[in-house]
Amino acid sequence: MKVNPVNKEPLYRLFSYLPPYKGYIFLALIAMVIAAATSSLMALLMGKLTDLGFYQKNGLVAIWAPIALIGISVLHGGGQFCSSYLLQMVSQKVLVQIRGLMFDNMIRWPEETVQQEQSGRVVSRFVNEASQALSSASEVLTVLVRDSLQVIALMCVLLWHNWQLTAVTLVVAPFLVVILRTVSKKLKKLTSDSQVTFGAMLNVLGETYKSERLIKVYDAYKFEAERFGHVNRRLQGLTMRQQVVKGLGTPLTQLVSMCGVSVVVFVALVQAQHGTLSLSEFVTYISAMLLMMPAIRKLANLNGTIARMAAAAESLFQMIDVPLEKDPGTKILGRAKGKVEFRNVCYKYPQALEPSLKDFSLKVEAGSMVALVGASGAGKSTIINMIPRFMIPASGEILMDDIPQNELTLASIREQIAIVTQEVMLFDDTIAANIAFGAGREVSEEEIMKAAEAAYLLPLIQSLPEGINTRIGESGAKLSGGQRQRVSIARALLKNAPILLLDEATSALDTESEKYIQASLDKLRSGRTSFVVAHRLSTIVDADCIVVLDQGAIVETGTHFELLQKDGPYAHLYKIQFSKQVDKHHSEGK
Ligand SMILES: Nc1ncnc2c1ncn2[C@@H]1O[C@H](COP(=O)(O)OP(=O)(O)OP(=O)(O)O)[C@@H](O)[C@H]1O
Ligand SMILES: [Mg+2]
Repeated sequence: MKVNPVNKEPLYRLFSYLPPYKGYIFLALIAMVIAAATSSLMALLMGKLTDLGFYQKNGLVAIWAPIALIGISVLHGGGQFCSSYLLQMVSQKVLVQIRGLMFDNMIRWPEETVQQEQSGRVVSRFVNEASQALSSASEVLTVLVRDSLQVIALMCVLLWHNWQLTAVTLVVAPFLVVILRTVSKKLKKLTSDSQVTFGAMLNVLGETYKSERLIKVYDAYKFEAERFGHVNRRLQGLTMRQQVVKGLGTPLTQLVSMCGVSVVVFVALVQAQHGTLSLSEFVTYISAMLLMMPAIRKLANLNGTIARMAAAAESLFQMIDVPLEKDPGTKILGRAKGKVEFRNVCYKYPQALEPSLKDFSLKVEAGSMVALVGASGAGKSTIINMIPRFMIPASGEILMDDIPQNELTLASIREQIAIVTQEVMLFDDTIAANIAFGAGREVSEEEIMKAAEAAYLLPLIQSLPEGINTRIGESGAKLSGGQRQRVSIARALLKNAPILLLDEATSALDTESEKYIQASLDKLRSGRTSFVVAHRLSTIVDADCIVVLDQGAIVETGTHFELLQKDGPYAHLYKIQFSKQVDKHHSEGK
């Protein structure tokens, strides 16, 4: 994935989304301070209780001590609940915002990026990384603030009581830093790797699920199982390695901090034996130490979480930073007349060796019909896809109503175009919604029905229990190939754009429905510029201009009759198809 050079640390960037929520964060901080303070209070109370209960034999202690304990616990628990609730709320809000940004960006990616990215990886960023980065964010903040506050507060208690003793414990600090650094570096790398693998797994899953029939017929169970097994095992390996690093980090830090505690216990015990440390002081000290241990452990664990979070955040921002489709044009066409001109256009797909379009020039007057003919791979779809500027010419230019496309805004270019692509694209929604999608505005059911009728969809709609409001399944799975194509034709018709692009729009139709659609397209074509790709030449005999292509270059152009007279490649193609039809008639006649 191509990424803008962004210097900001991903974590720093993640936290830059927080300022709007500073009110909530402030409240959460207060709650954390309460939680931290009450735990220090607990240590102090323990000492005080010992003092009062054992030495001064104060009878009242028996009454207020338990009340105080419960009170402090309630405060402590309440503080903890409020802080985690508030932080989770903030992180969820940021999560929604970032996911939204990712989505908005993704749908505006240039064609080339879309072709390079694996869909599984993209899905994984939404599902896995996004929540990983932010669900940990609240945890990190909580632990970072609450537990460091707790450690600081308890440290103060310790220093207050015996600073020499406390100073001794700090010797272990550098060891802790080294361990934590090593662990976090390793974990970040492992996390990135497993994110990539997780994406690959989603990809394999998606592909396999969709090609279920293929797998059955070609008996590809073993092949697919191996393909899945490979990523599955790789993910396991990476997770286990993460576990080892994480699992080693925590006991190591604990061991080192326990060394500190042991020194303190040793010194305290020696002091106690010499009578320089009272029992109450000793209890306070040890309670503080023991209360501090879980906080330190959490802080140490946090290191791993932060490393994983950084890796996840990096991956999110990579997605947000993909440069969008370039849209430098400023002119707006309004409703174009529909004149389209290609001037010496060359195009090469990023991964292709040979250019798919070579020095292609073609002038199409408004309202005329151009048919593109040529062998498979000749470049017909490439030409069609360049008109809405999905791809930008490597050299040369395309003009619409005599204005070069690069001076027009993308929205203005695409507003003029209705397209039926070679691969039909439908959503898991009703037929009505799929057709209305093309309009880009609120449309009445009447308009939808008119488009459906023109696309010869009425017989289908009438046969369905819920008519036009029948859901058609994922990618239109509940429809036949030809029905899908007709829905997508209806969608194009409804848009009512001055330029119509039909890439094999009628290839999956039977001769009868093709005839009907042809009739409605003929009606529609008046006053519209249309580019038609069709393998069946009978559908394009009426074209104002037929362009015969071979390997991305024009071989000949002319009307059907001109080309037949030339007796060139087109005439050859036509004769083959024609003779086939004649043969068919003959055999049917027999
Ligand atoms: N995304 C891509 N990356 C690399 N090369 C591509 C890509 N899409 C198409 N090509 C190549 O560009 C050439 C023209 O492809 P195009 O899809 O325009 O052919 P076509 O004339 O529409 O063929 P068909 O009749 O089979 O649809 C082919 O050689 C093809 O291999
Ligand atoms: Mg094609």
